[in-house]
Amino acid sequence: MRAFIAIEFPKDIQHQLGNLAQNLRSSGLRGVRWVAPENIHLTLKFLGDIKTESVQFLTHHLPTIAKAYSPFTLHLHGLGVFPGLRHPRVLWVGVVAPTPLFDLQRDIEALTQRLGVPPENRPFTPHVTLGRIQADFGPQDQALLETQLQASTSTFHMSLQVNQVALFRSDLFPTGARYTLLFHADFSERDEK
Ligand code: 2AM
Repeated sequence: MRAFIAIEFPKDIQHQLGNLAQNLRSSGLRGVRWVAPENIHLTLKFLGDIKTESVQFLTHHLPTIAKAYSPFTLHLHGLGVFPGLRHPRVLWVGVVAPTPLFDLQRDIEALTQRLGVPPENRPFTPHVTLGRIQADFGPQDQALLETQLQASTSTFHMSLQVNQVALFRSDLFPTGARYTLLFHADFSERDEK
């Protein structure tokens, strides 16, 4: 099954990010395949196709990793694109995160390597994908996007408390991906790590 480990977002945050995407759409931005609001999340590790035994392994080991963490706050701030403005492919909302998010991602990376999942060859850059640029994204969209990216740094801020990680299954359909929550692994309640 195709799966990934992520931070699930509460409905109200998904809703606000969905509104942000809607505003970009209303400004005339075309050529973007928008992520459905209920699918908006922060990916920690994309696993690709994994076996049922690997899900059992994660069900056993992910909670142990999560227990070593205490709740922390993420700030969502500004818009950006990967790999860069000249050839944008992914439109994202930036994440300003404390060190524990990076530690957690590293622990998850080490755990999933034990399953034979290939390591990332790029440093972890926390981001929230809002949309993916399509072939019909034109020069007008490009100009509009540049303006929107500049404006977003001053206008857009959101914070959320994180107290768990989640394993999701992803099923691909012609209409888009459908994500199913498999389980949550809770952080511990301690105030400090
Ligand atoms: P993204 O947030 O960086 O776009 C679920 O499919 C998540 O896994 C996506 O949100 C995406 O992360 C990531 N993902 C999907 N396909 C991927 C791939 N082939 N390689 C790496 N990450 C992928």
